[in-house]
This record gives sequence, structure tokens and C-alpha cells, in this order.
Amino acid sequence: MPSRQVVIHTGRELPGIRVAAQAAALVLEQLCGAVRPGVSTLELDQLDGKLIADTGGTSAFHGYLGYPAQTCISLNEEVVHGIGQATRIIVPGDLVSLDVGVQLDGFIGDNARTVCAGIEPTPEQESLLSATREGLAAGIAAAQGGNYVNDISRAVEESVSKNGFGIVRDFVGHGCGTKLHEAPEVPNFAQRARGARLQPGMVLAIEPMVNAGTHRVVVDPIDKWTVRTADGAPSAHFEHMVLITKDNAEILTWPKTV
Ligand code: MF3
Ligand code: CO
Repeated sequence: MPSRQVVIHTGRELPGIRVAAQAAALVLEQLCGAVRPGVSTLELDQLDGKLIADTGGTSAFHGYLGYPAQTCISLNEEVVHGIGQATRIIVPGDLVSLDVGVQLDGFIGDNARTVCAGIEPTPEQESLLSATREGLAAGIAAAQGGNYVNDISRAVEESVSKNGFGIVRDFVGHGCGTKLHEAPEVPNFAQRARGARLQPGMVLAIEPMVNAGTHRVVVDPIDKWTVRTADGAPSAHFEHMVLITKDNAEILTWPKTV
């Protein structure tokens, strides 16, 4: 992601971004509902393609830097960017991270969530899921006009590390709206510099990736996409797109229509 001037979206762009964000939220909600034991990750990817088409949009990920699938489906120790496969069958208790990006009329919606397949999560899985959700909530709470990007980063890190988990450093959140990745980057751990000042009209995708073990990750040497924890411990990922306003950030990816 280039580090350039932050993108401020105008009142003319915001309605389109809202619609794309809602489409991404609706698709993610429906896709989470389709996660169950016996389903292959390729079937989920194909369903995602169909659900996105139903919104009138296309996948914002397919073809992005050569990404070959519609959506990112990452199981257990896979952190992000997993690619659906016909032979990868979901079993009860799998942690399934789904990341959905929709492009609609030139605007982008992007959001992610981790769910447990078929059965209740174990206490260990539940604490990983809730730590990641809380990290995202802490980041969103810090995303107020007048604060700086680093206030978000620090808030996520403090929230997650007090729970004793590893926060992934190699992948970050980002501006989003008319392109999938816009300036600024939004790291999930504190930086030396305070970063850009948050201003009304900025749209940020905040997306902590949290590992039950260390923060270290490795990229699959063969598919060049799937990111896994280096120690094999499970990982979770939650992402919302928020609009910076004068006051509290507005979450654009709450599904309103289901
Ligand atoms: N939510 C992720 C991101 O914003 C998904 C990107 S997947 C890619 O970076 F395939 F598009 F790279
Ligand atoms: Co994103």
C-alpha cells in the first residue's frame, strides 16, 4: 500500500460507499450463516460469488494483485487470504474466518468475521474470538475526528495484548471507499509516529488479526497467498469499515437489511 496523502471522501461519494459497505455486510452475514460441517471452502467461495452478484456487485478481491478467489476463507491456523478448495471440508469446531469485499458502482465494501463451525467454540476459541472483537471495538472507539491513526493502532494493541494474544503486524487495516486499499494504512499495533489526523470523510477498514500464540505469520510458499501462524496456533479476524465523523466513528458494515 503506498503511503500517500490520506483520502477524504466527499458527500457525493459517501452514499455509494454506504451502499457498497451494506452489500458487503449483507453478504458476510449470509455467508456466515452458510458455514457448517460438510461444506467445502470452495462451495463457500462460490456461494459468496453468487451472493455478491445478487447485490449487483462484483468481488473486490478477485483479480486484485492476482488474487484468484472471490472471498478469503481462512481456517484455524490460517490467518487471512485463504483460497477456497473443493477438497477442504469444514469439520465441527473449525474456526472459519471470512473476509468479503464487494465492488458496486465504483465503490468498495470490505468486512470480515470469524465463526466457529457447527458447535459452540471451546473456551480457548471463545476467548480468542472475543479478544479480537474487543480489539476491533477498541480501535473503533478510538477512531474519532481529531485523534490520529496511531490512536486506533495503540487502542487495538492495548486491548488485544492485555488478553495475552499475539497481534499480527505484517498485515494492516486501510483506507477504503473508491479503491480497496487507500491511504492511510491502519496498523494494529502502536507506531512511533502518530500518523495522519482523523478527519470527517475518512473511511477506514479496521481489521485486527489475532493469534492465540505469537504474532508471527508465514505466507504459503506454493499459493503465495494463504497466511498462517508461524507456530500453528489458531487465529481470528474481525473487520469493519467506519466513517470518521466529528464525533464517534460510524460503522458502515453493520448489516441492516437482514
Ligand atoms: N480485507 C483484506 C484486505 O483488505 C482482504 C484483501 S484480499 C485480496 O486487505 F485478495 F484482495 F488481497
Ligand atoms: Co480490508
